[in-house]
Amino acid sequence: MRKAASLLGTFCRQFKGSLNRNFLVEKNEISLTLVPATIQTHGHHSQRRMSTKAKLADRLKGTEKNIWVDFSKLAVENKALNLGQGFPDYPPPQHVVDELMKAVTGNNPLIHQYTRSYGNPHLVNTLAKLYCPFLGRQVDPMNEITISVGAYGVLFCAVQGLINPGDEVIIIEPFFDCYEPMVMVAGGKPVFVPLRPAEKGGVLSSADWKLNPEELSSKFSSRTKAIIVNNPNNPLGKVFNRDELEMIAGLCKKHDVICISDEVYEWMVYDGNKHIKIATLPDMWERTITVGSAGKAFSVTGWKLGWGIGPPHLIKCLQVLHQNCIYTCPTPIQEAVASGLDYEITQLDHPEKCYLYTLAKELLPKRDFLAKTLSDFGMIPTIPEGGYFMMADISKLNLHIPDDDTDDPCDFKFVRWMTKEKKFTAIPTSAFYSKNHKSLGEKFVRFCFIKDDKTLKKAGELLQDWKASLA
Ligand SMILES: Cc1ncc(COP(=O)(O)O)c(C=O)c1O
Repeated sequence: MRKAASLLGTFCRQFKGSLNRNFLVEKNEISLTLVPATIQTHGHHSQRRMSTKAKLADRLKGTEKNIWVDFSKLAVENKALNLGQGFPDYPPPQHVVDELMKAVTGNNPLIHQYTRSYGNPHLVNTLAKLYCPFLGRQVDPMNEITISVGAYGVLFCAVQGLINPGDEVIIIEPFFDCYEPMVMVAGGKPVFVPLRPAEKGGVLSSADWKLNPEELSSKFSSRTKAIIVNNPNNPLGKVFNRDELEMIAGLCKKHDVICISDEVYEWMVYDGNKHIKIATLPDMWERTITVGSAGKAFSVTGWKLGWGIGPPHLIKCLQVLHQNCIYTCPTPIQEAVASGLDYEITQLDHPEKCYLYTLAKELLPKRDFLAKTLSDFGMIPTIPEGGYFMMADISKLNLHIPDDDTDDPCDFKFVRWMTKEKKFTAIPTSAFYSKNHKSLGEKFVRFCFIKDDKTLKKAGELLQDWKASLA
């Protein structure tokens, strides 16, 4: 039975503090034990006995749900304006596209064949050159860099390559959602610590979200193998400052912990903020894997190419995993990214011409437009210092949202309803929190602003019309 319509504000008040709510993945578990099953084949019904062994492997239990799969599908089904997933809806830099064309239409037949498992030599040499000044050291392209299928692939190789069953991995909330299932699948134990917003009301900056040093310190133990730091953070946009990074680095060194530093949004920082690589802090190179993404750097998320950079003793662990389950990444894509970065390296001293820098300039007015649009509607945005996402507090909206008879957090109910009824999609932020901390995230939703100005304008008009309809 459908429950009565209730106020979203009431939802949020009710849900706040309810710490033991079902985690989404525990619901609607995939069941593949259909024995026997009646299957429609070519117009006939046929009885087919499915194997009782056709079951999800035990180690994948609890990881069945995926926010991107679910909400992208919902947006498509409802033809909704999608500010959910993080990718641009406009073309990437032309010179990078031209490099891909050149690679595949050139007269080198080997471009279409396998290349070196750990990264095409051209690409790793270019990356070594690019990162040398940012890391403040020479980088050995053959032993200190490894390439995989997007930053996802690198993170997966890092977690699988380093984590033993029972190892604890500290994850800072809100976190990019794949960290938790990756650690679980490796048999590790994720240990969560939240960034907490300042209690000051009104519009916040992502800088107002802080780690409590005592709370963080309390999560480290002899079982801690690694910490995953996402800087700039998705979904919050927080750019960790030097003091914060030094505090994290100090704990890593004290407890002999590896740092997996996901820096895919490294180039997208605003308002004079500086992205500092934790690997550059004293004695951190030896224990840090820095993760980057061509998809994010060049706004080509469909190219799925990422890199891990670190000392040979850590990079080797990623390579062992990669060589046996991915082996190598597409050669033309690696070649195009390498040539694209070669050009960017020549422009590093001309920030107005270097895409790695102009991207943030291009994104800044989009960020500010979205912040104003959401504020005008009555949401309270947290202004991101980096990345291309914005979290907005929805708890002060006075809206009637019908319950959907799920045990999901109220941000899930809100976004599902908004997608279906208002044809507008975002991502529920509690997806970026662990089971016990969902209540910290459920009064926010996440919007992506790397979208065409026309798309953002449409979002503004949609929210204006919605607001007018409420008057
Ligand atoms: C923080 C973070 N890390 C990693 C990734 C994955 O990057 P890629 O598309 O290169 O696999 C994303 C994608 O959204 C992300 O937001």
